[in-house]
Amino acid sequence: MRISVIGAGYVGLVTAGALASKRHNVIVVDTDETRVSMINRRKSPIFEEGLDDVLSNCVESNRLRATSDYEEILATDVTLICVGTPSNSDGSMDLSHVTESAKAIGRMLGAKSERHTVVVRSTVVPGTTREIVIPALEQHSRKKANVDFGIAVNPEFMQEGKALHCFFNPDRIIVGEDEEGVGDTVEELYEGISAPIIRMGITTAEMIKFTSNAFLATKISFINEIGNICRKLGIDVYDVVRGVGLDYRIGEHFLNAGIGFGGSCLPKDVKALVHSSRHVGYQAQLLESVLEVNKNQILNMLRMVEEKLGNLEGKTICVLGLAFKPNTDDIRNAPALEVIRLLMEKGASVKAYDPLAMPNAKSVLSHKVEYSRDVKEAVSNCDCILILTEWDEFKNESLYYGKLVFDGRRVLDPERARVICDYEGICW
Ligand code: UGA
Repeated sequence: MRISVIGAGYVGLVTAGALASKRHNVIVVDTDETRVSMINRRKSPIFEEGLDDVLSNCVESNRLRATSDYEEILATDVTLICVGTPSNSDGSMDLSHVTESAKAIGRMLGAKSERHTVVVRSTVVPGTTREIVIPALEQHSRKKANVDFGIAVNPEFMQEGKALHCFFNPDRIIVGEDEEGVGDTVEELYEGISAPIIRMGITTAEMIKFTSNAFLATKISFINEIGNICRKLGIDVYDVVRGVGLDYRIGEHFLNAGIGFGGSCLPKDVKALVHSSRHVGYQAQLLESVLEVNKNQILNMLRMVEEKLGNLEGKTICVLGLAFKPNTDDIRNAPALEVIRLLMEKGASVKAYDPLAMPNAKSVLSHKVEYSRDVKEAVSNCDCILILTEWDEFKNESLYYGKLVFDGRRVLDPERARVICDYEGICW
């Protein structure tokens, strides 16, 4: 198939690389010339496990190319919209990139006589495709959706750090269509991938993505709340999860208690769902609490540090881990950033280390943060250590002998850690 992917961010690039490695012919369209030229030079502009190799192979074999010229989508059969949908300051979703790309695709479709299918893969609040994308495509192409061109929704469920694996091994493929047959084109994209394919209306498909992310976020805040109760009762929440996770109705995944969820998806999508609910006259109390519990984990960690160290003015605190989770350099909504801001507000000096995310952190954090060359340097000469991302290299117990350690990610085994250092788990 000849495919165009709009947007060379995480979702777009991984999708484009994965489809090209399945022997489709793919072009990635992005307005950022630096990204375009990097991809064409076989370098991934983002860090994602395995993506450099995939891009390199596919660009070399001419199955993948990047361009900033929208006109090139005319030579493809399907266009996937994969642009970002960040949060506005009020929690609503910023759909401007989706709207702009729909307009640009529309302008191109006006000049095309063969049938074309547009697939929305960006995460968009339910109703967006019908109320914003289709009108923009129709207005700018002067054509009719589901008559002159096909339109479908195909949400992604890829986790950063293992996004390619998620693409090739999905639990399910969701295809939203309002016209019988459009979904066949989407199914063709995934030929050879074994997973249940579920077809439904466009808005339902959009809602499935939100429900999935909202449920995952709820699981995390739920177990953090249970963990906070357990800590007060002197019970280890991780033992509790071993006991409840085997109930197939509950499951053991996404019940790792800790400092809370970050990233570019869970916080943004839950906020957007809360905002959209309010818009239609419903107060999403549970989801509001999910966000509140998540925010409070950071404050709980600060409280624990203050209980041990007293006034933080003039104290030196080592923060291990800046990325929102391991195996990525992504710091968007990473709990560590907020922890560092609050520590500095209280007058502490912060030394930080992360194997991948320091360059990104430098661009958003105060210039007063001191970055260490390696983990050993980071943990030396400080009043306490906060572990906020579960990188493998932080599991080395010998780093912590005789130190005061606050573990926000269950990196250390509490029983062993309590023998070698003054150890506090955030909710165990
Ligand atoms: C999330 C979803 O898991 C993907 O299915 C979805 O496709 C993606 O968002 C998206 O919407 O594009 P991602 O943001 O990559 O993926 O990260 P997750 O692996 O879900 O982790 C999110 C946060 O939750 C991280 O900060 C992680 O440390 C935290 N987490 C995760 C916990 O605190 N406890 C857990 O048990 C699991």
